Amino acid sequence: MKILVTGNAGLMGARFCDWLVEKTSHDIIGIDDLSGGYQDNIHPKVTFIKQNLLDDLTPIFEQHEPEVIYHFAAYAAEGLSPFIRRYNYENNLIASVNLINNAIKFDVQRFVFTSSMAVYGDSCTPPFTENDPTRPIDPYGIAKLAVEKDLEVAYEQHGLKYTIIRPHNFYGDKQNIWDRYRNVLGIWMNQVINEENPTIFGNGEQRRAFSCIDDALVPLWNASQRDACIGQVINLGGIKDVSILDACLTLLDVTGTKLQPVFLENRHEAKNAFSSWEKSIELLDFEHKIELREGLEKMWQWAKKQPKRPQFTWHEYELDKNLYGFWQ
Ligand SMILES: NC(=O)c1ccc[n+]([C@@H]2O[C@H](COP(=O)([O-])OP(=O)(O)OC[C@H]3O[C@@H](n4cnc5c(N)ncnc54)[C@H](O)[C@@H]3O)[C@@H](O)[C@H]2O)c1
Repeated sequence: MKILVTGNAGLMGARFCDWLVEKTSHDIIGIDDLSGGYQDNIHPKVTFIKQNLLDDLTPIFEQHEPEVIYHFAAYAAEGLSPFIRRYNYENNLIASVNLINNAIKFDVQRFVFTSSMAVYGDSCTPPFTENDPTRPIDPYGIAKLAVEKDLEVAYEQHGLKYTIIRPHNFYGDKQNIWDRYRNVLGIWMNQVINEENPTIFGNGEQRRAFSCIDDALVPLWNASQRDACIGQVINLGGIKDVSILDACLTLLDVTGTKLQPVFLENRHEAKNAFSSWEKSIELLDFEHKIELREGLEKMWQWAKKQPKRPQFTWHEYELDKNLYGFWQ
């Protein structure tokens, strides 16, 4: 079988490709523009195409004839998305639609899309279940929800069999730790490596549930292999919520540093956000095997061995009105 994986230089795409290469004998084609992932992350057995998903994808479909698509590519800087609205919609929505057009045109059999818990916003009380209303509070969540809706109608009208995964707070080896706008655990690791105090928005009482990427790999595979997953929306990740402050203190303990958290102004975000997991157990065989501390110990060993890379910073935002002081 030919499997196309977008975003295959990023955390989820790269680690899922590693798993596919090790556990299956399928042909893997990866597309990534390396805007947020790294070539070093890509398994040598993956046929890699460096390309932006906004560009013409037809030649790739003609040449490789993928049967299954995993669409991971996105710029997942949720908190920054109100200040890069246009980039967010082009990269996360229009690029996805370009891929969906080709999936329909070339009769792709299964399409797995990683949406986000951001689609729930803050309108309901966590744990969010798949049947809860969606009310995203930022452009990133809106883009994800729009792609979800587009897939629904692509299935109804054109028979494109999709599965929507709503992951939340995965971390692990191959995560981008050089981007100051996203991946809170990665940001803290980078700060510790550079002997800076880790930063927390607000008082750190916000609650999230983290999961090690290793626990996502079998469920991701099952998403495209089981008929019961067709047309389904499934939360994926963390069964134990923790305050951001406690997560930070756990990481500091793991690293053995004497650095201490510093608290920044609040930002526009859901206070508590974590999801239900029952459906992922039932349909995807999800198991939360790796506790936060154990997963962070593993990721920290990896992070310490990484090359020194400059931290990614936007030199110009689309909008700087109401931009938080720490990003100015
Ligand atoms: N990691 C999580 O906890 C989490 C949580 C919720 C949702 N998600 C979603 O899951 C997906 C994967 O997340 P991740 O953590 O691996 O992200 P990531 O940033 O590590 O990887 C995304 C990859 O997509 C590539 N990319 C971005 N825009 C592209 C474009 N226009 N064309 C080609 N390539 C492009 C980047 O270069 C990067 O390698 C994303 O869609 C994200 O929104 C992840």
